[in-house]
Amino acid sequence: MSDVFSSLATSGRETTQQIASVLHSRKQDPEQHRMLQRFLTALEVTGGPLLEIGCGSGELLTDLCDRAGTATVVGIDHSLDLLKTARQAQSTSGNLRLLAADAHRLPFGAETFQTVLMYTLLSHTPDIPSVLREAHRVCHTGGQVAVLDGDYASADFSLGENDPLNACVAAWRAHYVLNTHALRSLPRLLQADGFQLTQSGAHTYTAAHSAYAFTIIDRGVDTMLDSGTIGKDLARSLKDEARRRAHEEGFVGSITYRFAVARKRPTARNATGA
Ligand SMILES: C[S@@+](CC[C@H](N)C(=O)[O-])C[C@H]1O[C@@H](n2cnc3c(N)ncnc32)[C@H](O)[C@@H]1O
Repeated sequence: MSDVFSSLATSGRETTQQIASVLHSRKQDPEQHRMLQRFLTALEVTGGPLLEIGCGSGELLTDLCDRAGTATVVGIDHSLDLLKTARQAQSTSGNLRLLAADAHRLPFGAETFQTVLMYTLLSHTPDIPSVLREAHRVCHTGGQVAVLDGDYASADFSLGENDPLNACVAAWRAHYVLNTHALRSLPRLLQADGFQLTQSGAHTYTAAHSAYAFTIIDRGVDTMLDSGTIGKDLARSLKDEARRRAHEEGFVGSITYRFAVARKRPTARNATGA
């Protein structure tokens, strides 16, 4: 099991450019867009500094800056290359700061942010409890932490038993997702870290004619091609099959995404005013 996203801090430019393009195609996907807007609308992102951990190339940051009004928005990521792309795209936002940092060791003091957001980060981090502990530490008491992420074990791109496109999805998952099931335990993980859960639930992403959905099949196919599992002709046919289905079936695949919003509880010390 590997995860391209978890090693982006040391990846070459070609890989980071490919990932930036995948993230951009996801942002353009109307179904993904609707899901993200539903999630963001349920948050109260006004009234204080906001942090996105794992902001990547900044696909979410314009939206966050708009919603945050005059509050400072900070994006951190461990990929310098993706941050550079984010910086170029966001040159006009005065209230935005971008920093290189590891999600497991945030370079901020305690109680710095009113909102801490993680959008498809935790499925890629090797130590989820330590990332959530850091999110808890930098969040104001009473502030909120919000997570939206793929339950990638649920990804299903099949039209029947033993569908070869699902083999492509399995290869994609093995190469791009470290934590395939962990998001199912998100409410428990947050509560264990001193948060009070205020919302949790799931959205189903259904991909039809979507450049982003094709990147899932294409990346899985390329993984199998690179490892020598399949040859070029089959690789081409599998990619074509995904496009045929989008066109003729109106269905390429589906993935469940899970979300949770939680508030930082006062400690016993804070609560008694001691
Ligand atoms: C799937 S991308 C999501 C990017 C952005 N949130 C978006 O949706 O467009 C995951 C991001 O997390 C970053 N990342 C993964 N592990 C990280 C870590 N330990 N510390 C900081 N960033 C990390 C990756 O570099 C990548 O930009």
